[in-house]
Amino acid sequence: MTTPFRDDATLVPPAGCPAHLAGAPGAPEDTDLDATGPADPEGHEPGLDELPVAELRRLYGPEAEADPAGLYEKLRAEYGEVAPVLLHGDLPAWLVLGHSANLTVLRTPSRFSRDSRRWTAFQEGRVGADSPLMPVIAWQPLCVFADGAEHRRLRGAVTDGLNGTDRRGVRRFVTRYTAELVAEFGPTGRAELVSRFAEHLPMLVMTQLVGMPEEYGPKLVEAARDLMKGTETAIASNEHVVAALRRLVERKRTDPGADLCTRLMQHEAGLTDEEVLEHLRVVLLAANETTVNLIADTLKMILTDERFRAHLSGGHMTVPDGLDQVLWDAPPMSLVAGRWATGDTLLGGRRIRAGDMLLLGLAAGNVDPVVRPDLAKPLHGNRSHLSFGSGPHECPGQDIGRAIAETGIDSLLTLLPDLRLAVPEPELTWTSAWLSRHLVELPVEFTPREPEPAAERGTASAAASAPAATPAATPAAASVAASVAPPVPVAPRPGPTPVGPSPALDPRARRGWWARLTGWFRR
Ligand code: HEM
Repeated sequence: MTTPFRDDATLVPPAGCPAHLAGAPGAPEDTDLDATGPADPEGHEPGLDELPVAELRRLYGPEAEADPAGLYEKLRAEYGEVAPVLLHGDLPAWLVLGHSANLTVLRTPSRFSRDSRRWTAFQEGRVGADSPLMPVIAWQPLCVFADGAEHRRLRGAVTDGLNGTDRRGVRRFVTRYTAELVAEFGPTGRAELVSRFAEHLPMLVMTQLVGMPEEYGPKLVEAARDLMKGTETAIASNEHVVAALRRLVERKRTDPGADLCTRLMQHEAGLTDEEVLEHLRVVLLAANETTVNLIADTLKMILTDERFRAHLSGGHMTVPDGLDQVLWDAPPMSLVAGRWATGDTLLGGRRIRAGDMLLLGLAAGNVDPVVRPDLAKPLHGNRSHLSFGSGPHECPGQDIGRAIAETGIDSLLTLLPDLRLAVPEPELTWTSAWLSRHLVELPVEFTPREPEPAAERGTASAAASAPAATPAATPAAASVAASVAPPVPVAPRPGPTPVGPSPALDPRARRGWWARLTGWFRR
């Protein structure tokens, strides 16, 4: 038995009804309570499970992965704002394609919950434990799966922790790490910028913001990249990352600092050590994968888009403009999975049943003809795209992500002013999974940049103390970094704890941990 929602805007809640008071404990945080699309008073619109599976399009498999944007447009033409689709295992779900319908779902948690345990397919045992969907949607006690008061408790700690970050410090870290990375490939005059730049910068910076000791950075970046690519060494890399985070939490108990880990531990929400660790993981992953994509796609745009070339020769498009354009046209997360209907309701004219799953089509919503009738029209300064979400779960790290991408790209262009694509643009390729797409390579060339003479300050000592196997830790990197960025003040710390797997951890738990994290984006 399901509870129908009354979406009739003429229905007014009784005066003082606690369920309608914003901010009341357990009350919805809705900012948009309208159903979208035509009403279906006679109830003829079929529910998800009544639709013939053979006629539905799959959101996975070769066809979907070859051209996701093309698939969204076919679905929009066939169904309008909200389309039925099939997920792995041919499980049906709704894909929200309209800009306005996406906002309705994001901003109305009373109707569209983040709690995946509501999914009918789960409750009926139709999702196997080994389903590729599980890493993305299996419920965990994290802010991303919470609603209402529990969400406010966990998210409050995360947002306060992130808001406490010194923004100038972020930019200093970004400038410095960009210089170190450029020092590695600068003398050759050629580089592949996805693997040599975009995939390194966000994690290097984030390790500093969470409070990792300096020397963990490069190895953690390698471990995270290894895990994302799913190689046979992924388990060992996973152990390394888990152990590093556990040591960090232990260390901050006696050695607090001006970092996210300490702010989470000291927050009035009273997070347990396990909650602190879990949310540091969420932040690291959410920050890394999305910002890598944002940097790679914006660099690609800068190197290929005529509007940008015009800027370099006196035109008007800037790096922030480029970021906005990419956030509209190529959002780092194409889809967010998902939301679950709390009761029967209507959306975009479709009859949504309690327990149905909805996928937020951020990429599709950003090119909805209703909001963008002319896709070629510039969007400078317009930030009403869906790429950071909206409503109670809206990305709390967007300023940090933008700062990493913007400062990193600016610094790269300053160091390599004649940067140009080394292959014809049509040779660039992307890999697509259901939640995101990734530029595979961005080969570039430029006038070789010789390393600066060795400097005796700044990052040299940090670089020298990093493990020899990490390519970024070379004297050349250190000297170039020191030449463009002031040394980052680092509080004195006890000596580094040796890196290695923690014997206390269950290997299956470790695997599940990373599978869940990486699954957010890669499945
Ligand atoms: C710059 C590229 C980024 C993009 C495009 C992006 C996108 C998003 C989106 C769409 C959501 C909402 C998901 C939902 O509604 O269910 C989200 C949530 C989140 N993001 Fe970001 N993000 C980015 C960077 C970052 C960074 C740098 C951080 C951390 C420093 C971060 C931390 C988070 C966290 C913790 C959440 C979960 C919030 C919650 O559930 O309440 N993100 N992000």
